Amino acid sequence: MAKLRLKSKRELELMRNSCRLAAEILERSAELVKPGITTDEINTFVHDYTVRNGAYPSPLNYHGYPKSVCTSVNDCVTHGIPGPFIIKEGDIINIDVTCQLEGYHGDCSATYPVGIIAPSAQNLIDVARQCLAVGIAACAVPKARLSDIGLAIEDLADEHGYSVVRDYCGHGIGRQFHEDLLVLHYRQNRPGPLLEEGMIFTIEPMINEGGWKVKTLNDGWTVLTADGKLSAQFEHTIALTSNGPEILTKT
Ligand code: MF3
Ligand code: CO
Ligand code: CO
Repeated sequence: MAKLRLKSKRELELMRNSCRLAAEILERSAELVKPGITTDEINTFVHDYTVRNGAYPSPLNYHGYPKSVCTSVNDCVTHGIPGPFIIKEGDIINIDVTCQLEGYHGDCSATYPVGIIAPSAQNLIDVARQCLAVGIAACAVPKARLSDIGLAIEDLADEHGYSVVRDYCGHGIGRQFHEDLLVLHYRQNRPGPLLEEGMIFTIEPMINEGGWKVKTLNDGWTVLTADGKLSAQFEHTIALTSNGPEILTKT
């Protein structure tokens, strides 16, 4: 991980551009989500759209990752690899888009229903979205600490009887895909560092219907819930400015 360095105004401008593009790619790729398509089709769309806009799909070849986007279906928590796999009515799918534009990365994800889904699955999606929202809101409190993010997120997940994945966290982002700043999405015993203007990082809670434990498949990437229950995730890249947290990954 690259060392934590606060970003300048100029870098914030560049991050706004890469993040806006990432959000646009995500929004457009979500329009493909319907029963009968393959995750490879999403990958092809994301790859081509990214390249056509003068950017590079950050996941491709990142530590050997083979594709341009992550597509995580149902009990897949994160890092699902697109393939000939067909999504079907009732599934939920997280699409995680990261692009590098003019040297800076933007990273965001969202979870979508495939056709009509069970109310319990929709509730998990709704709460996961709210978990990201309360994590961002925690950054708006004066003198907030990094650890306040996980506190707010786990409190909300608990209220709904869900659990928060502990093995993966948010991260600083900029010239590197993953930079210093570990954004834990769960409660910690010690207060973290104070949040400061110029920090840019992701918040990306993975919320499980069952327990928080996960397992990784032999492909070295695909992360599943250990109990086979559903997992949902939302991610934004956030900049801390003098006006509070700014969501960079929006269209
Ligand atoms: N986009 C993921 C994140 O939010 C990381 C994916 S790494 C990859 O941090 F190699 F799988 F693409
Ligand atoms: Co991320
Ligand atoms: Co991501």
